[in-house]
Amino acid sequence: MHRGLFITFEGPEGAGKSTQARRLYERLQAAGYPVILTREPGGTRIGELIRRILIDLRHTEMAPTTEILLFSAARAQLVSELIRPYLATGGIVVCDRYADSTFAYQGYGLGRDLEELRVITEVATGGLKPDLTFYLQIDVEIGLQRKQHARERSERGGQPAEWNRLDARDLAYHRRVMHGFVELMKQEPERWHALDADQPVDELAEQIWHAVMPLLDRITPLATR
Ligand SMILES: Nc1ncnc2c1ncn2[C@@H]1O[C@H](COP(=O)(O)OP(=O)(O)OP(=O)(O)O)[C@@H](O)[C@H]1O
Ligand SMILES: [Mg+2]
Repeated sequence: MHRGLFITFEGPEGAGKSTQARRLYERLQAAGYPVILTREPGGTRIGELIRRILIDLRHTEMAPTTEILLFSAARAQLVSELIRPYLATGGIVVCDRYADSTFAYQGYGLGRDLEELRVITEVATGGLKPDLTFYLQIDVEIGLQRKQHARERSERGGQPAEWNRLDARDLAYHRRVMHGFVELMKQEPERWHALDADQPVDELAEQIWHAVMPLLDRITPLATR
């Protein structure tokens, strides 16, 4: 067991995971807690290179097994280089997606054998699980619309927005993924905290903060170290 706190964000495309992960990170930092924000796939130099391969729209020939192993390789690097060492110092790690996404996307979405994914994930993470996982619940269509709008804004010269190989899969796939997340939550209800993501950013951030607060008594703030 580690001394820190490992918090992840999951949910369908455009639910607001990155937005809320950043808000939580900033609030923890402002409150004086040792915290890092990271994301999957990526978060390390090697992991970000793997991410580029995974999301490239040209890579239509990628075999499902390749996809699974690349996600897992990026995860293995992130866990060993960043997450485990930081948790060992008693810090808080906020991660935008983690292993649950593999089960939802490659397992339920692409129909890969769940037991096989468990073995691969165990190898990649050494069994490291989040202490708390937020599930941002949103209709698949609304989430994809949010991303479309972000993309249009970016094409008009706004903030850059990403539309990648995995987003481009069909609606039925995204619905299977969502069903997968619901199944995963049923298996470990104590770890998950589901929230209605079709609410203003500030309100969601407030609900997330209230769920995290009770866990903070085990973390020593930076000033008192
Ligand atoms: N609560 C919200 N209400 C309305 N729009 C939102 C909300 N949260 C985020 N957005 C907007 O929706 C888009 C997607 O948000 P964000 O990137 O945080 O989602 P995500 O879940 O990380 O998506 P992805 O699956 O692409 O990683 C962004 O343009 C963001 O500004
Ligand atoms: Mg995101």
